[in-house]
Amino acid sequence: MNISIFGLGYVGAVSLACLARDGHRVIGVDVDQAKLDLIAAGRTPVVEEGMIELMRDVVASGRIDVTRDARDAVMRSDLSLVCVGTPSAPNGSQNQSAILGLCEELGAALRAKVTPHLIVFRSTLVPGTVEDVLLPILEAASGKKRGADFHVCFQPEFLREGTSIRDYDKPPFTIVGTDDEPARATLHALFGHLPCEFLATSIRAAEMVKYCCNNFHALKITFANETARLCEALGVDPFEVMDLVCKDRQLNISPAYLKPGFAFGGSCLPKDLRATMYLAKTHDVELPVQAAILSSNRQHIDHAIAKVVQTGKRRIGMIGLSFKTGTDDLRESPLVLLAEHFIGKGFGLRVYDPEVQLSRLLGANRRFIEQHVPHIGSLMCSEIASVIDASDVIVVALDDRSTIEALAQQVRPDQMVLDLVGIRETRLKGAYVGLCW
Ligand SMILES: NC(=O)c1ccc[n+]([C@@H]2O[C@H](COP(=O)([O-])OP(=O)(O)OC[C@H]3O[C@@H](n4cnc5c(N)ncnc54)[C@H](O)[C@@H]3O)[C@@H](O)[C@H]2O)c1
Repeated sequence: MNISIFGLGYVGAVSLACLARDGHRVIGVDVDQAKLDLIAAGRTPVVEEGMIELMRDVVASGRIDVTRDARDAVMRSDLSLVCVGTPSAPNGSQNQSAILGLCEELGAALRAKVTPHLIVFRSTLVPGTVEDVLLPILEAASGKKRGADFHVCFQPEFLREGTSIRDYDKPPFTIVGTDDEPARATLHALFGHLPCEFLATSIRAAEMVKYCCNNFHALKITFANETARLCEALGVDPFEVMDLVCKDRQLNISPAYLKPGFAFGGSCLPKDLRATMYLAKTHDVELPVQAAILSSNRQHIDHAIAKVVQTGKRRIGMIGLSFKTGTDDLRESPLVLLAEHFIGKGFGLRVYDPEVQLSRLLGANRRFIEQHVPHIGSLMCSEIASVIDASDVIVVALDDRSTIEALAQQVRPDQMVLDLVGIRETRLKGAYVGLCW
């Protein structure tokens, strides 16, 4: 393919070298003449493992050209990869001045181009930027329509500085954000051979995934370092501890606990977090990230309360009461807090939880309910139908197939359903208000 690359920093220069290595003709564009001169001379503008040799070879192959002229580059290519910088502004927002200015230039170039062109945004962009900001600029400057006269998609870049050529050849996945089939097909032709999944999604989700990945990486590093500080104070080897933590591929290094849902609770996580915080305090160790977990969890509960209050309805049915699906354990259940809030504020409340109901009948949980939550015990119904009948808003906090099945069959179109656990039940359409987080 004939490809133009805008922005020849770490991302753009490595992409330029790798695409030329793979047989494509590549035009590099940058506003920095020094970078263009380096590349033209077969030298790398960034220090990266393997780039000195690779750049020398690909420039010698004659498949690379460089220019400052955006219009010329668009005219001579089928697609453009946009890799310009998007640094932080002093207030923490994203400084998009480079990409905004570039889109004016790309739009002007598209106005003059008669053959179709694909623009692939690879710079990291806050969600919404492509559709709400960049596309209007491109359409206004070109006088053309996206999807008809030119194509656009967002493809986040996942390479890491230091290992960028290896990451280019073996990324964790290829994600393409687009609602445009020709754009998806072109990128599949370009990157579909890589040894990873090729996943198409919406533009906004693709923009968000990039932030989510980077923030998760930052969180992982900080968690390991906080753990190390506490280990050091306790005389425990942090490397050994984290090595062992990483050996658990079921719960630790796995998708477990990474599905959005309701707040955590139960007899272990809150109590053990509190004990860890106390331990850190007594050893003068600050763990700001872990110290914030319980308050973030509380905000999640408050968010659900606010959603219910916003409906303006007063009769609430809760499906689920224990701290998670499949258990009758009510200790530190966030749903108990939710129920208590509704009772305290004078809402009408009915609760259905088959596990809690069963253990109550068996006597196992009866004492806990009578001693700790007698006010909720009296509101529990043994049939889901009684809860549905008595409610205007149904809060679903149970991810149990047979319960969801019964709910889908019995819910009325005039009732609202708030989904706390991501059941995403399409049969609830009409009555369905949506996810609640
Ligand atoms: N560096 C990384 O490891 C990495 C990894 C993934 C994603 N990203 C994202 O990719 C983007 C680029 O990152 P980078 O580290 O390569 O940036 P960089 O700052 O190293 O390079 C950006 C280049 O864009 C050029 N530029 C600015 N305006 C231009 C214009 N109008 N036309 C052409 N070129 C122009 C600059 O001169 C510079 O050479 C950023 O959004 C970044 O967040 C970076």
